[in-house]
Amino acid sequence: MVHLELLYKPAAAEPRQKPGRLVVVSNRVPVPAASSPAAGGLAVALEAALAERGGLWLGWSGKTCNAPDPRPRLQRHGRIDYALCDLSRRDLDEFYHGFANRALWPICHYRLDLAALSQRDAAGYFRVNEQFAATLRGLLRPGDVVWVHDYHFVPLASFLRQAGCANRIGFFLHIPWPAPDVARALPGLSRILRCFAAYDVIGLQTEADGANLKDCLAQAAAATIAGDGTCRAYGRSFAVGAFPIGIDTGAFARAARTAETSTGVARLRQSLAGRPLVIGVDRLDYSKGIPERIEAFATFLERSPEAVRRRPTLLQVTPKSRSEVPEYARMHRAIAEQVGTMNGKWGDIDWTPVRYINKAMSRSTLAGLYRLARIGLVTPLRDGMNLVAKEYVAAQDPEDPGVLVLSQFAGAAQELAAALVVNPYDIEATAAAIGQALAMPLDERKARWSTLMTVLEANTIDHWTSRFLAALGAGSAPAHAAEAAMEPPAMSLPSKDDEDHEAWPAPPPILASTRH
Ligand code: UDP
Ligand code: G6P
Repeated sequence: MVHLELLYKPAAAEPRQKPGRLVVVSNRVPVPAASSPAAGGLAVALEAALAERGGLWLGWSGKTCNAPDPRPRLQRHGRIDYALCDLSRRDLDEFYHGFANRALWPICHYRLDLAALSQRDAAGYFRVNEQFAATLRGLLRPGDVVWVHDYHFVPLASFLRQAGCANRIGFFLHIPWPAPDVARALPGLSRILRCFAAYDVIGLQTEADGANLKDCLAQAAAATIAGDGTCRAYGRSFAVGAFPIGIDTGAFARAARTAETSTGVARLRQSLAGRPLVIGVDRLDYSKGIPERIEAFATFLERSPEAVRRRPTLLQVTPKSRSEVPEYARMHRAIAEQVGTMNGKWGDIDWTPVRYINKAMSRSTLAGLYRLARIGLVTPLRDGMNLVAKEYVAAQDPEDPGVLVLSQFAGAAQELAAALVVNPYDIEATAAAIGQALAMPLDERKARWSTLMTVLEANTIDHWTSRFLAALGAGSAPAHAAEAAMEPPAMSLPSKDDEDHEAWPAPPPILASTRH
């Protein structure tokens, strides 16, 4: 591992002819030296995407301090330069715990009942975005292509544009974008929508998410939308499209084969003594439908004396997440109680129906656990994609594959229709799907698995990265939608209907060097 302290240089000091880098911005940055594994789809996916290409990755260091240095700490690991910023306690509370995770997250996941709206948090969200934009400005070279990720940083490009930045800037939203009726619960929605318009390409997980965003833009800003996904709103032209994220399918399958013989997996296999294993792997998050899943498992046992005789185990791996957000802390207590009640009712001296683990596991260990499990129970109430569903499939033994039971509300269900697709709110139907999966004959398991695997092999993490960067004009084959978005973004004043009336200065024309 190379560990390099680089000098923080203002953009003006960089030679103008240097080839453009890929510059990724995300709140969560899994620096390789960090001790705990990265539990979270974004970190996992971006690690894979950047590892080969190299580039610069800017984000939060994961630390707070009283007076954060506006200059990032820089270090290099492999081909990636990491630029990490600390946050003040107030910034963390308002930006991350507050607006990002108590307003945007619940609303984008259709949980208006859990949204906590605060003007102070909203102001903090925009303030921290402005800080990150200023930091990024100091690191950017003219030909760099910027790729911003997720709901923490929607306004980043608008601050960069205000500062005169003309680089190509793309945005990918890892979580769902809701229908206009739901999105309207977000205070300052029109300001957020205006911020989207500062990007050149906006990627979402599914066609439905893309359609929702376009509907919001059409309603709030009278956006015109062409058949190829090109939007014209707030005086700019930009592309909006679906880019379903993938995994490193081959590598994950290999990791699962290797992990099959590891000590951890051997211990689990031995403890099961031939009884079937059902697995759930999710951050402790209300969007994941964990209580509903445990209830469905209990209903399955209740309805089937034969199932009780076979003594199946639900292994629920659930690392804690965002524990300082009150809605998450409440949920943590509720699930622990539910598991206790369930095990008290059904358990025996040699059978614990639900094994509930609150620590994060490495993905290589998870790969082995998935392979051992007869059922992958992936039943979120709402999810942008859900990488666990894809990893479960990739990890299976082709000669004896398990069955994926998948929520119709996970983005992954759009691609993985050969799974047993369920409505996670329908407890009885989910219980029945567990029964169907356990009883499924080998031929049907193989046929379903091979259809699913073909999908995963056709859309890997590498395809996702290449497709998005091509659309952004940074790859070898720009997509049609991106061609339209390459037009110089003529800025206009906001309409008088907009909530905020700040105008962006017209940026310089797009630099030819941003197209490789
Ligand atoms: N993960 C992990 N260790 C754990 C639990 C999860 O490494 O203990 C990984 C998991 O393998 C997957 C990611 O975290 O790659 C979760 O992504 P997903 O899209 O399923 O959900 P998210 O957490 O992003 O909402
Ligand atoms: C989801 C979000 C990511 C986030 C991850 C983990 O995958 O889309 O942006 O990083 O959850 O959540 P955390 O709050 O710990 O970063």
